[in-house]
Amino acid sequence: ASMLRLIRSRSSSAAPRPHLLRRAYGSESVLGAAGGIGQPLALLPLALLMKLNPLVSQLALYDIAGTPGVAADVGHINTRSEVAGYVGEEQLGQALEGSDVVIIPAGVPRKPGMTRDDLFNINAGIVKSLCTAIAKYCPNAVVNMISNPVNSTVPIAAEVFKKAGTYNEKKLFGVTTLDVVRAKTFYAGKAKVPVEEVNVPVVGGHAGITILPLFSQAVPKANLADEDIKALTKRTQDGGTEVVEAKAGKGSATLSMAYAGALFADACLKGLNGVPDVVECSFVQSSITELPFFASKVKLGKNGVEEVLELGPMSDFEKQGLESLIPELKASIEKGIKFANQ
Ligand code: NAD
Ligand code: LMR
Repeated sequence: ASMLRLIRSRSSSAAPRPHLLRRAYGSESVLGAAGGIGQPLALLPLALLMKLNPLVSQLALYDIAGTPGVAADVGHINTRSEVAGYVGEEQLGQALEGSDVVIIPAGVPRKPGMTRDDLFNINAGIVKSLCTAIAKYCPNAVVNMISNPVNSTVPIAAEVFKKAGTYNEKKLFGVTTLDVVRAKTFYAGKAKVPVEEVNVPVVGGHAGITILPLFSQAVPKANLADEDIKALTKRTQDGGTEVVEAKAGKGSATLSMAYAGALFADACLKGLNGVPDVVECSFVQSSITELPFFASKVKLGKNGVEEVLELGPMSDFEKQGLESLIPELKASIEKGIKFANQ
């Protein structure tokens, strides 16, 4: 009932009419909640944004260490959502039980010189064990996978859920929102248009050339030169590396990722709660290309994915980019599937 009350009190015109709601969704858990992305050490931490989100009624923060402090801190914020911290594997089940949305930013980040795939050996195991627990304790939850390499961790999650008999392809999302956030920022700067009006789909995957921004579909329209589009594409593809190098060994994007992660989780919650026309790019099970998983615009609804949208018209440059990314993305997907089944 408190969840319904929270939604009724929303002033946004996009909020669903309460009598149309059969059930309101509002429980979130964050796995890896004491990390650079997960914890409120900085300006726009994921947990803080989640706490401020009026659609969230309960927030469970889980990590292998450090969450009691994060939860005590975030819990003092005067919003209505309840916050609880869980620490250590023996509390993972409790953290997950009742969750409608589970956000996973658990695992190691890159250091300069590494690719996201270099994180596979450590993060694949972490994701596998967390997903095994999700299948057991909250098999119907929507999962937002942030842990890298996303191109492999999402297929790992799918395989774990399949084995447990709980897989619902409509509820598993690789979070690629940061690519969209970057593409919008870089495009606005180059095209000299107001950044808040910009939209750019980013498709493919979440690593290097598998990140394919479709600037030909960007709005507001701007007649940028081919060279500018190439440079914007490259900068979007290398955005993560730009941050890793600038942080010089102190990790990868955390603040912009916390912002992007909160945006995406909010979109999922809106969809679950029946807000119409919620569309975000995400890496999901897909049949719009030959690959079993692919990032594209996705319409979010009461059951998670409502529709995976087609790629739409692409420039020759983008078509070429699509062709070149397929083998790399395919290999990353297969690597994840193989790991989960060994
Ligand atoms: P971090 O090292 O600051 O935090 C990771 C946290 O995960 C730590 O607190 C650690 O204790 C925790 N952890 C480790 N094993 C765990 C387990 N089994 N269960 C729960 N928690 C566990 O790293 P970060 O900067 O927050 O990055 C986390 C991950 O997110 C990395 O893999 C990074 O590459 C990825 N990332 C993805 C995107 C994206 O766009 N999808 C963007 C940025 C970072
Ligand atoms: C990013 O895009 O910032 C993340 O995937 C982290 C990284 O390793 O680049």
